[in-house]
Amino acid sequence: MSKSSTPVDDDLFAFIAAATIPEDPLLRDLRAAAAKAGLPEIHIAPEQAAFLQLVLRAAKAKTVIEVGTLGGYSAIAMARGLPADGRVITHEIDAHHATFARQWIERSDQRGKIEVRLGNAAETLGALPAESADGMFLDADKTGYVTYLQHALRLLRPGGILLADNVLAGGDVAHGTDTTPVAIRAFLDAVRATPNLRSVIVPLGDGCLFGVKQ
Ligand code: SAH
Ligand code: DHB
Ligand code: MG
Repeated sequence: MSKSSTPVDDDLFAFIAAATIPEDPLLRDLRAAAAKAGLPEIHIAPEQAAFLQLVLRAAKAKTVIEVGTLGGYSAIAMARGLPADGRVITHEIDAHHATFARQWIERSDQRGKIEVRLGNAAETLGALPAESADGMFLDADKTGYVTYLQHALRLLRPGGILLADNVLAGGDVAHGTDTTPVAIRAFLDAVRATPNLRSVIVPLGDGCLFGVKQ
């Protein structure tokens, strides 16, 4: 590897995470309560939550669409990057996850800014108007990412931001043959094949795609 790239080992990554804005008490409590309620512990990493929030703030985003709510961890983090009249519309297929998320959003500082829509996002995203979003965050079933990309290209305004979690597929993205790495490679191929979308992979958490629709 050339000197312009520094390999990040576990030790260096722990430093990077610790040097990021710390997780606040509400998100920490939400995480603990979600685990207790039996939700899978697959929320985004705290340093990735900080990254999403800052990207949206820097872009002056007002409307963000999320695919995959889980307990509302990322939705609350992103809503904090929006102005007071900003809005996160988040999509969730699991009623138990949606109910938990609604309860924690209601008791958070972001109540009123986040709407949880229950259903299969591949269908419910169709109800949203074209070019209505400043940002979109994909984090649901990885086999759906190519479909969600098609929705994103319709829903994002020109200049809108596409974000997607898990593009490193737990480290298996380059060579893995399981469903997830195969699905992520298909997604990354589709992203690259989209002329009006420019993107980079930011290796925070399990890998965060950051793209801009031209
Ligand atoms: N963004 C969340 C984590 C999402 S985990 C956070 O960081 O806090 C993925 C979520 O996507 C799960 O809650 C799962 O139930 C949901 N999901 C899976 N398939 C879906 C689909 N087709 N439509 C909507 N949500 C889906
Ligand atoms: C899974 C999904 C995620 O979005 C994630 O960040 C980690 C794991 C999963 O379905 O296993
Ligand atoms: Mg994820």
